[in-house]
Amino acid sequence: MNIKDTYIKFFEAKGHKYIPSAGVIPENDPTSLFTTAGMQPLVPYLLGQKHPEGSRLVDVQKCFRTNDLDEVGDTTHHTFFEMLGNWSLGDYFKEESIAWSLELLTEKFNIPKDRLAVTVFEGNGNIPKDEQSANIWKSHGISENRISYLGKDDNFWTVGGSGPCGPDTEIFYWCSNDPVPEKHDPEDARWVEIWNNVFMQYYMDEKGNITELDQKNVDTGMGVERITAVLEGKNDNYKTSIWQDIIQKIETITGKSYDDPQYTKAMRIIADHLRAIVMLAGDDAKIKPSNTDQGYILRRLIRRAIRYAKKLDIDINSTWDTEIATMIIKQYAKYYQELDRNQAIILEVLKNEKSKFNRTLEKGLKEFEKITKNLQGDTINKDLAFKLYDTFGFPIELTEELAKEQNLKVDSIGFKQKFKEHQEKSRTASAGKFKGGLASDGIIETKYHTATHLLNAALKVVVSQDVHQMGSNITAERMRFDSSCDHKLTEEEKEKTEALVNKWIAEGLEVTFEQMTKEKALSIGAECMFIEKYPDIVTVYSIGNISKELCGGPHVKNTKELGHFKIKKEEASSAGVRRIKAILE
Ligand code: ALA
Repeated sequence: MNIKDTYIKFFEAKGHKYIPSAGVIPENDPTSLFTTAGMQPLVPYLLGQKHPEGSRLVDVQKCFRTNDLDEVGDTTHHTFFEMLGNWSLGDYFKEESIAWSLELLTEKFNIPKDRLAVTVFEGNGNIPKDEQSANIWKSHGISENRISYLGKDDNFWTVGGSGPCGPDTEIFYWCSNDPVPEKHDPEDARWVEIWNNVFMQYYMDEKGNITELDQKNVDTGMGVERITAVLEGKNDNYKTSIWQDIIQKIETITGKSYDDPQYTKAMRIIADHLRAIVMLAGDDAKIKPSNTDQGYILRRLIRRAIRYAKKLDIDINSTWDTEIATMIIKQYAKYYQELDRNQAIILEVLKNEKSKFNRTLEKGLKEFEKITKNLQGDTINKDLAFKLYDTFGFPIELTEELAKEQNLKVDSIGFKQKFKEHQEKSRTASAGKFKGGLASDGIIETKYHTATHLLNAALKVVVSQDVHQMGSNITAERMRFDSSCDHKLTEEEKEKTEALVNKWIAEGLEVTFEQMTKEKALSIGAECMFIEKYPDIVTVYSIGNISKELCGGPHVKNTKELGHFKIKKEEASSAGVRRIKAILE
């Protein structure tokens, strides 16, 4: 059975529209490095904005969670994973959501009802105990014994910080050959969570105050890796159909067996990391390895994969990495078409980073050996850790991992201070972002979002109609805009662009939006970055009659809200891409 297709078809038959996955890098959300749940890109719609595809949606979303990267190598943790979800945007609520979940699990996935248990919210403060969900479960034959009431840590979903939230009901499967107990015990790890249905009817502000939303939503999430392991009866995710071909490929390349315990962990890490690398480098955000933010994660993943490949005696200079990556691209392109489109970029990223790291890896490992031999005490000091980083390209996490293997410690705090002193591009600026979570679209970010459209339009007038947006990134402090402009802007061009944007701001142009078919949007000349990424019905934002762009918003209502626009910097970002940093003051 193709689990993803079965899920999608099931909900399509219940009136849901299938929407393509959003990027793994959130757009216009400066507080999150990665998309960590299916609902994340849908926040504006959970808060009331009309979704062009209607009020019932189904998708499989590319997700990334990097907080437990060190756990990767066991049977269940993955850097990249896929989340199936179905949404009601102010449409159906608990009754249908629960009934359909049970129908899919028992009738399509053929799970006996007797192997299921659920948890519901026990209530807290003003938010009542969720008896309604419990009663619905009971009406569908789930016994009282199999319903546990838990508190807000378990059964109240928030996105961290402010945003839509609500009580949830989680579904557990008895994942053991032992007889299924009568009663559900939330502490018993043999009950494995397979699905989470969140009833998002509240909004939490930055201070933690909770108010009712205008619309009641349903947000559900089912991890593909876990449900696959459950349905295929495997207690190791890498033994499921998802990973089979990839693991076999690694076995062929190395001539070693996955079942040989001395190789299992390394093979898992190589498989997991290469899939994550493909998804990150193949995302339309076009992340490149670097020393900050998502680029740093990409660099770490590639370097860690290479180190484990070395452990398996793979000839690093051979095509092992591209062979595995190509296979992964093929496996996933049906759902994420950007992988096909960006295949050459993915392979290029691997090639370049490999050649950078490979030159120093061997020497670095020798240096590490020397360090440990001469070490007094059990801690590698900050200067040695920094030397490994600076001279040999060892991410601090790699040094930590090597040290741990020999029961040694690293002065990572000292390293980070030193790193800060030495690197202009500090990673610490993004440390807060590693936590994940969502930004509410603040007023300032919304202004920058509209300013991005004005800048895009101004460059077309001042430089050339052929200048297109290649990316953007917004924080509360500034906007960054990447374009296909083929030269460094002259002073005159810069001034003209700035002046034009400020002229449009002063004119007080109305910002409006309209929904239409993709074809119509193209025919009226609306700008967009990746047309195939959009659903059939799209939202087009217009600013007066100077700009039309496919975009999900949000935007200010009138350009006069923006203040004064100023270009702070114009530079090359990568081959063929120019980057402008600008502020509103
Ligand atoms: N947002 C919920 C989750 O990620 C469904 O578990």
